[in-house]
Amino acid sequence: MAFSYLDNNAGTALAEGVLDAMLPYLHQQQGNPSSSHRYGRFARTALDSARQQVADLIKVQPSQVIFTSGGTESNNQALLGISKQYSSGDVLVSSIEHPSVLEPAARLAEQGFNVVHVPVDESGRIKTNNFIEALSDQTRLVSMMWANNETGTIQDIAALTEITRQQQIPFHCDAVQAAGKLNIDFNVAGVQLMSLSAHKFGGPKGIGALIIENELDWPPFIVGGGQENGLRSGTENVPAIVGFGMAAQLAQQNVQNYQLHCQQLRDALETRLQAIEGITIFSQQAERLANTVFFSLQGFDADTLLMTLDRQGIAVSSGSACGTGQQTPSHVLMAMGVDEPTALGAIRVSVSEHNTLEQIEQLVVVLSKEVDRFNHLMNR
Ligand SMILES: Cc1ncc(COP(=O)(O)O)c(C=O)c1O
Repeated sequence: MAFSYLDNNAGTALAEGVLDAMLPYLHQQQGNPSSSHRYGRFARTALDSARQQVADLIKVQPSQVIFTSGGTESNNQALLGISKQYSSGDVLVSSIEHPSVLEPAARLAEQGFNVVHVPVDESGRIKTNNFIEALSDQTRLVSMMWANNETGTIQDIAALTEITRQQQIPFHCDAVQAAGKLNIDFNVAGVQLMSLSAHKFGGPKGIGALIIENELDWPPFIVGGGQENGLRSGTENVPAIVGFGMAAQLAQQNVQNYQLHCQQLRDALETRLQAIEGITIFSQQAERLANTVFFSLQGFDADTLLMTLDRQGIAVSSGSACGTGQQTPSHVLMAMGVDEPTALGAIRVSVSEHNTLEQIEQLVVVLSKEVDRFNHLMNR
């Protein structure tokens, strides 16, 4: 059986060269970067160059990069950090954020903040008018994602921050699905905080970063030995950070080829899918990540279809990977006004540079067979 991993928004394979970069720090190089001897200095040098590589990816200074355990931690610290400065006020999030933003936002609501969920249109784009209306002199923080993990829809972050900047409201952006897949410039985007995660673009799992604007005074999230500029104490995960740095450098070098390759596969898949009766492709008209196709087959249950594909060696996702196992429709699709039966049939295909046209053909063959079988049963 030929295997096709088509779930790259959930996690990617290590990019070529990342494991080799990490290996010395997993065995020979045992030094703690805080130690003054040669072993420590060696680890510190590795940490410094990885910080530079991550900084280069989004065009910031290395001092702005705070390493964390991944996107979830970065998002939590960005949201919850505001509660160390204020005890009330408004916090704006979009209604299609990842649970790692929505859940800390819910904690802020429990603490007395007024959390406003800004709606999106049918393609998943934030409604600017609603956003402007929701802002007030009580707004303490805004958190809006760059690219959605389910639909791939890209927001115009710079247009949103142009509005918040005038009012000096800190803007956090979850760029976990965008970094490494799109060209990102932190300063052009005009944000004050940004979350990154290595395993979405060829780095290891369990490592990410919170990027903080130099002028922003942000409270420490973990206290102790004072690592990471005093903001996130704890001995740094040197091998993972080195892998993150290498993945960032490779992604930056390859972003154009990556986009071209993924878009070819995405277009091929969508052309073939459109020939299937009863198909809905979400956000097709919106500016989207080149690697993501989110669609629904009328009458199908996504989790059953996912298992059928799995038996044929094809790995896809039903909605958000972090939310699988739940038989609830995707909150992203519900926010876009999709009806519940259609949302329950939603399948996400997310490709990478490692996928091929043959794998796309194989997926379409299996899907078409399933649709034929279903129609045959319905017509009996
Ligand atoms: C948009 C988005 N934000 C945050 C996360 C969480 O990142 P991590 O898996 O590094 O905790 C994910 C993971 O799927 C994501 O897609």
